[in-house]
Amino acid sequence: MLTERLSQALNEQVNAELYSAYLYLSMSMYLESIDMSGAAGWMNAQAREEVSHAERIMGYLNDRGARVWMKAIEEPPAKWDSALQVFEESFEHERKVSAMIDHLVDLAREENDHMTENFLQWFVAEQIEEEASVSDVVRLFKLSGDDGGNLLMIDQKLGERAAGALEED
Ligand code: FEO
Repeated sequence: MLTERLSQALNEQVNAELYSAYLYLSMSMYLESIDMSGAAGWMNAQAREEVSHAERIMGYLNDRGARVWMKAIEEPPAKWDSALQVFEESFEHERKVSAMIDHLVDLAREENDHMTENFLQWFVAEQIEEEASVSDVVRLFKLSGDDGGNLLMIDQKLGERAAGALEED
């Protein structure tokens, strides 16, 4: 049985993952509005991954006999100045999520809950990938500067991820 403290913290993480999905959907809609549909698709695929992260934790809470509570999801920002700024903020957001996961691992250790500590290792590894993939995109946008041709190429490249994600569905 999970302790109340851990159960609450994991429920908060469910909410944080769903907020991430909501934030990335908002980013995706902004990117659509500036005609970067490839980047918008990339962000949409990211949002779906966030929902799957929330579901993974919900499944774990159920498996451990704890209750899942669906709490209100905060309204995300809706406006940015550029695609570069969107991806920079996404990177900062992923770093915050990584810190949350680290905090959960600390909590599991304090509660001497080895099952939860083991469960969380998947998220520890996932955060390496999450930070790396978005930081790669930031680097691409920084290299391209304001060159329209470069931006178009990046947008097309990012669209390939969205197409791949759709094929997996
Ligand atoms: Fe669920 Fe992007 O962290």
